[in-house]
Order: sequence, then structure tokens, then C-alpha cells
Amino acid sequence: MINRRSFIGKVAGLGAAIPLISTIPSVSKPTQNGKKPIILCSRGENWAEKVLTPGWEAFQNGKDILDAVEASARVTELDPNDASVGYGGLPNEDGVVQLDASFMDGRNHNCGSVGALENIKTPSSVARLVMERTDHIHLVGEGALRFAKAHGFPEENLLTDRSRRMWLRWKENLSDRDDRFPPEDGDYELEKRPTGTINILALDANGDLAGCTTTSGLFGKIPGRIGDSPIIGAGLYVDNEVGAAGATGRGEEILRTCGSFFVVEQMRAGKSPQEACEALCKRIIDINGGEKNVNFNDRLVAINKDGEVGCAAIRGREGREPSLSFMSEDGIRTIKGTYLIEVS
Ligand code: GLY
Repeated sequence: MINRRSFIGKVAGLGAAIPLISTIPSVSKPTQNGKKPIILCSRGENWAEKVLTPGWEAFQNGKDILDAVEASARVTELDPNDASVGYGGLPNEDGVVQLDASFMDGRNHNCGSVGALENIKTPSSVARLVMERTDHIHLVGEGALRFAKAHGFPEENLLTDRSRRMWLRWKENLSDRDDRFPPEDGDYELEKRPTGTINILALDANGDLAGCTTTSGLFGKIPGRIGDSPIIGAGLYVDNEVGAAGATGRGEEILRTCGSFFVVEQMRAGKSPQEACEALCKRIIDINGGEKNVNFNDRLVAINKDGEVGCAAIRGREGREPSLSFMSEDGIRTIKGTYLIEVS
């Protein structure tokens, strides 16, 4: 296991010739043109096959890299059992699911995103259309919904019974000075307000990169809040010359560090994806005045042009390490990343 001390030692040596952390392998093996397709997601083995297979099949069927990324991004969005993304996602303070997503094409720096989008199950697809069918980058709220409907997306209620009950429980636990009684079972299980997000990053056989980040954001957020996910350079950044990165976790920290852009620029400066992800974790802790002030978590995933991948989090513990999964012609693999602060 990578412990806090060893992580600090490695990150403190930024710029020095620090060894790669051994749990993070290089996954690229040169092929005829020096590249091979890889698609990755910021989820562990429970989701890996389900999420990555549609994207991988798109590659196998000769589809464009954007089709591969979109196919994988839609899996959790459409799954009502995933209470973090898309349909059945985390409701806001009013019990309404508002979704954010971004899409980026490394070949041309094209990008598109939607924020606070209601009633559409697949914001990743709408973000892609903003990228491909408009001269804009961000569409939010009512305008994003109208745009989606104009492109034929049906309006649907995104609140499943599970997410409604989750929201009601949260409301009933908010205060002992309001008129709502605590939940009947008295069981308050939402001590921390969850965030839920997934990053999909891909490298195709031409060595081109693309990515998508999609989320329902922060549970109980103030209506209209958008996080890092729909902001290019925060929740997602892709640069064909260098690599791609995506973030999950507390979006406000990723926003104020331009997180994914920071990770890609660290790779441009020579760091491995792993070192680059760790460098952002260190930066976030530093700007918060040290780990004593850090009671939140952020996780980064990254891939470079050579198909090396990396993954790091601010907080973790044995058994709760950050992880990423990727699919290549060698099949599916899940790897555990590193974390800086050990939590009990
Ligand atoms: N990272 C997801 C969010 O904060 O909205």
C-alpha cells in the first residue's frame, strides 16, 4: 500500500527524478504504429465491464473516438441503480436532479458542456451536441433543456423512488429546529454529502484523445449550482499533444485549481500521469493551508499519449483507494491509485 509518508516524499520531490509508484503500471505496449486503443473510467471493478464494454465495442466496430467515449459515458447515466449520475442521480436542495456534463475532443480542442440540466437522462450526449452543433461551449439550465429538446431528447423525470427517499431523509435530518421529524427509523446515514461523477477518457489507435465527465453534482446543492464537471479545464481537459485528465469529488476545489488543466500541464512538463495527479492533490492541500483543513476528497485520473495511466486522491485508506479501470486489447484491468491523507 502507498502510505501517506511515501506519497508525500514522492510529491515533495516534484521536479526531481522520482520513481513511479509501483502499483501504477505503464499500460501501453508499442504496436505497429506505437499506439493502441484504450478506454478508461474512474470506477473500480464493480462498474468496469459494464461501463467500458460499449466504448470498447465502438472502437472495435471502427467508430470514432467520440462515439466510444459517449457510449461508455451513457451507461451510468441511464442506470437508475447508479445514484450519482444521470437518471436517479443526486437531487438538489429542492429534490430536483440537475445534471452537469462536458465533452472534449483532443484533435481540435473542441469542447461542449451543459450545466444544471433537468429532465434529460444523458447530459453527456447533449454536451457532445453543444460541441458539435453550436459555436458555443457552455449551455446551462433552461437554455440547455431547450437545446436538448430541439435535438429530440425526451423530457423525463430523473427522480427515482430511491433518490426521492434519499432526498427526503436528508431533509428530515437537516435540523432539529424545523417542523420535520427525523426519519422514522432514526437512522441518519448521510453524514457526508456525496458527490457522484464519472470520467471517461480514451486514446484511439491513431493516438488521438477524447474525454467526457458527467455528474449529478453534489447532493443537496443549492439549485443552480454547477461544479467542476461541466467546466473545461476543471472536471475535464484533453490535449492531443500531451494527454487527458478528469476529476471527481468536491468540485469547488477542482474549480479553484483548474484541476484537469493543471494535471495535463504537469504531464506536458514531463510528469507521468500518476505524478501529475498526485501533484494536483498536493496543490489542493497546500492552498487549503494543509491537511488539517481538508475534510473533503478529490480524485484524479489521467492518461498520456503513450497510454500510461494514473490515478490519485487526496484522502483514502486501505480498501478505499482511488481506482480506475481501463479496457484495451489485453482486456479489462482495474488498478488502485495513491492517496495523500490516510483516513480511518
Ligand atoms: N465533482 C462533481 C461536483 O462537484 O459537482
